[in-house]
Amino acid sequence: MISTKIIIAIDGFSSTGKSTIAKQLAKRLNYIYVDTGAMYRAVTLHAMNRNYVTSDFFDSTKLILDLDNIKLSFVFNPELGFAEMFLNGTNVEKEIRTIQVSKLVSKVAAIPQVRRKLVHEQQNMGKEKGIVMDGRDIGTVVFPDAELKLFMTASADKRATRRYKELLDRGDDVNYDEVLQNVQERDRIDSTRKDSPLIKAKDAVEFDNSDMGLEEQFDRIMSLVNDRITK
Ligand code: DC
Repeated sequence: MISTKIIIAIDGFSSTGKSTIAKQLAKRLNYIYVDTGAMYRAVTLHAMNRNYVTSDFFDSTKLILDLDNIKLSFVFNPELGFAEMFLNGTNVEKEIRTIQVSKLVSKVAAIPQVRRKLVHEQQNMGKEKGIVMDGRDIGTVVFPDAELKLFMTASADKRATRRYKELLDRGDDVNYDEVLQNVQERDRIDSTRKDSPLIKAKDAVEFDNSDMGLEEQFDRIMSLVNDRITK
């Protein structure tokens, strides 16, 4: 029996628990975990800091001209057990998770030049395989030949409730309706944009986890993984 390293691509709507599952899988398999949403969020934070984007204004040309100056890196934090996002040498893990960034990220992620830069970096990270990557276009664009593709869904209400709790736990001042609206608006923009819209890859296995516990989900996914890595 030969055990081979594979690429696991996890796509799906926001707050479907992709990153929780991805982190668990990476830990169990001793694989690298890459949260591509964090990369789009970091580019958005940069655009906000430079005033290229606000709620009613977006100078995408300025952002495109500045893309070469945006250096993204993941630095593993052994205490947390996963890698944190750094933007031009600064840890931005907290700033990128705010509702302000969530409200603007889909606009920034729709720009083809932004996507091209990030997809290129993501493909480089997966060259050696042994990687779990989550996002919106991983199984369709970044790694169309990934050995295992998962597509996660859950009702908008369940997802908004999860995100709302996360934000409250972090001490953010948000209300549920605002979070639900953001989840629905991002679903709409992410699935209707021209460049790499969020769609399920033909060969992806779909998981609706509205009512599925984490343990059950993890066990089912691990059995799919074992099928792929032992030949
Ligand atoms: O996974 P997340 O919610 O942190 O992602 C933030 C946004 O980034 C999401 O609304 C869409 C965008 N995104 C994307 O377009 N492509 C990816 N591979 C990952 C995220």
